[in-house]
Amino acid sequence: MKTILITGGAGFIGSHVVRLFVNKYPNYNIINLDKLTYAGNLANLKDIEDKPNYKFVRLDICDFDNVLKLIQDEHIDGIIHLAAESHVDRSIKDPFTFAKTNVLGTLSLLQAAKAYWDSLPEKYEGKRFYHISTDEVYGALEMTHPQGIEPPFTTKASSANHHVAYGEKFFTEDLKYLPHSPYSASKASSDHFVRAFHDTYGLPTIVTNCSNNYGPYQFPEKLIPLFINNIRHRKPLPVYGKGENVRDWLFVEDHARAIDLIFHKGTIADTYNIGGFNEWKNIDIIKVLINTVDRLLGRNEGEDLDLITYVTDRAGHDLRYAIDSSKLQRELGWEPSLQFEEGIERTVRWYLDNQSWLDNITSGDYEKYYESMYKNR
Ligand code: NAD
Ligand code: DAU
Repeated sequence: MKTILITGGAGFIGSHVVRLFVNKYPNYNIINLDKLTYAGNLANLKDIEDKPNYKFVRLDICDFDNVLKLIQDEHIDGIIHLAAESHVDRSIKDPFTFAKTNVLGTLSLLQAAKAYWDSLPEKYEGKRFYHISTDEVYGALEMTHPQGIEPPFTTKASSANHHVAYGEKFFTEDLKYLPHSPYSASKASSDHFVRAFHDTYGLPTIVTNCSNNYGPYQFPEKLIPLFINNIRHRKPLPVYGKGENVRDWLFVEDHARAIDLIFHKGTIADTYNIGGFNEWKNIDIIKVLINTVDRLLGRNEGEDLDLITYVTDRAGHDLRYAIDSSKLQRELGWEPSLQFEEGIERTVRWYLDNQSWLDNITSGDYEKYYESMYKNR
């Protein structure tokens, strides 16, 4: 029997990780610690909330005393840390909140894990602190081939119809950190603290850096769910700059599967990049979204292309992200399960089939829902 603490489990990626662990490991106790900020939504976990091996605790990771108490009381063996402020645009408006949660919150969690595990006779034996980070810490890659070239590797997540790289360089694990946005600066700082706790105290840490995730339950401020919702309502689609920026997209369940694999088989103190070799210019992926939503809603494919509205670019907008995940494939045998075309079809369908989930968030009703859920516990 193991007890695993997952932070940020009511958010987008965290809810998929919680669901995977609760269903796959009935012999583990899974504790979901989440502050329930605007991005946390217990409706993301409705299907597993009554499972006997699952427990939700509402807590701020910055609240050191109560985090330590929880870790001690629950005899936590492993931590998978996803709680964070995660939206770049918000970090530009309010960097302080990002420093607080992402840097000080991570430090608080590290200190609490260290204090509890230090007090045990077996110390760090069988323990693990796994920190989930982002490819944005590496900065931005150049776009040396705007028309696209054949990428050096492929995974099952790579698109069938659009398999290109926009430059020869990729983010590899040995690259120097060069964050640009307040969000990525705060994530970079938290990664440094995690590594410092290994190098200084021997805490058994692992860090992974993943590319852009897409899939169900993503908060509709991020590109894909925001645009699906806007196309549905025939509202303008605010494309930053020229829409030429490149992101590398991975289906969220494949990220969750990588997290499971690395949590169990990854080497302590190591770093793994996670991504699918699936680069897209924003404008191209937006056209895929328009065509898919139109088709699934019975409209003529492409009839909503005129919703595309070019707006002022994001300040400091990183040009290109592209992850080299070959180390993870080579060393741990990770392979994503879903090709991009299937993943995006499933994603659009999910948002269209779960319009009430979107409507509850956009109307603010979910806050009432989780307040009442929390009171009932
Ligand atoms: P999200 O914004 O959807 O969810 C974040 C969760 O953390 C929410 O449930 C929120 O309530 C919780 N939280 C925020 N502040 C907290 C605090 N102080 N104490 C406790 N809980 C708090 O984020 P996401 O997109 O699911 O990202 C999860 C993690 O993965 C983040 O660390 C992010 O940096 C990283 N990541 C995200 C992506 C992506 O594409 N979304 C890619 C790579 C890495
Ligand atoms: O790379 C991993 C990162 O991906 C994660 O660490 C972050 O938590 C996650 O938010 C995401 O960051 P991005 O900034 O890449 O994601 P976002 O969905 O905000 O934007 C994707 C691209 O689309 C980016 O180039 C900006 C652009 N965009 C975004 C929005 C919200 C627009 O053109 N218009 C928009 O309205």
